[in-house]
Amino acid sequence: MNHYAVWGNPIAQSKSPRIHALFGQQTGKAISYVAKLGDEQQFENQLQQFFAEGAKGANITAPFKERAFALADLHSESCLQAEACNTLKRLEDGRLYADNTDGVGLVSDLARLGWLTPKQRVLILGAGGATKGVLYPLLQAGQQITVYNRTVEKAVALAEKFAKFGSIQTACMAEISEQSFDLIINATSLGLQGKYVELPQQVLAQAKVYDMQYAPNMRTPFLNYARSQGAIMCQDGLGMLVGQAAYAFKLWEDTLPEIEPVLRLLTAEMEIVT
Ligand code: ATR
Repeated sequence: MNHYAVWGNPIAQSKSPRIHALFGQQTGKAISYVAKLGDEQQFENQLQQFFAEGAKGANITAPFKERAFALADLHSESCLQAEACNTLKRLEDGRLYADNTDGVGLVSDLARLGWLTPKQRVLILGAGGATKGVLYPLLQAGQQITVYNRTVEKAVALAEKFAKFGSIQTACMAEISEQSFDLIINATSLGLQGKYVELPQQVLAQAKVYDMQYAPNMRTPFLNYARSQGAIMCQDGLGMLVGQAAYAFKLWEDTLPEIEPVLRLLTAEMEIVT
């Protein structure tokens, strides 16, 4: 049996053990997958110990994605561009291979929704790790990207770094109000504080709205706000979460599980009946 874990801090809230248990059942692969609390001081030692004991792979979540990236011996292209790792695989020779499946998780979820039109205009809110993790796959998928961030320099730095992969620019709020977008993606961490970036009403109301965060009944602070401003097509990031997990599972077990049935089950398990 192959052993896996997700490492983070905090980690108790993680849905990854549930998702991978469902993937194992669905594909008939006997795996074990547990949640592990990473230690701020000892994370690298913990991970090395975990692999020394024979584990085949790990998922990495906040706040350790950059440290896992630094620890790995080999990196996929999307991982190199994200400069952060959410999936590690131990190779036959013992070296650690790092991937980042967050971006492909997002892109596959947009495709599932029918929201991945070529050359569409995409506004991404935020220029932190969540944004950096998905820009390369979004540009590979031909999306025309505008990044907005409170701290303008961070958005500019990302646009410069990723310009060689496609169409990417930055905008301030005044510029955003004069444009329209097909898709708006919230990649800020503001929702964790119950807050959101305010946008011009007409910009929000005309776009498809995707929040990388998720909540029961899709009631994230940003999606609640978007609906209040007239947005009709709103989706949270639960499909992205299941998608990134599916591509990690594929890297480890050579089988891409079906995302939809697992997403349906998780959605139902989280649902609050009112
Ligand atoms: P993550 O890895 O989740 O992306 P991060 O790297 O800390 O976390 O990035 C958080 C993002 O949310 C950043 O874009 C941040 O904007 P700044 O770069 O200006 O800090 C954004 N964010 C967090 N708190 C915010 C706030 N109160 N108002 C606006 N943006 C905020």
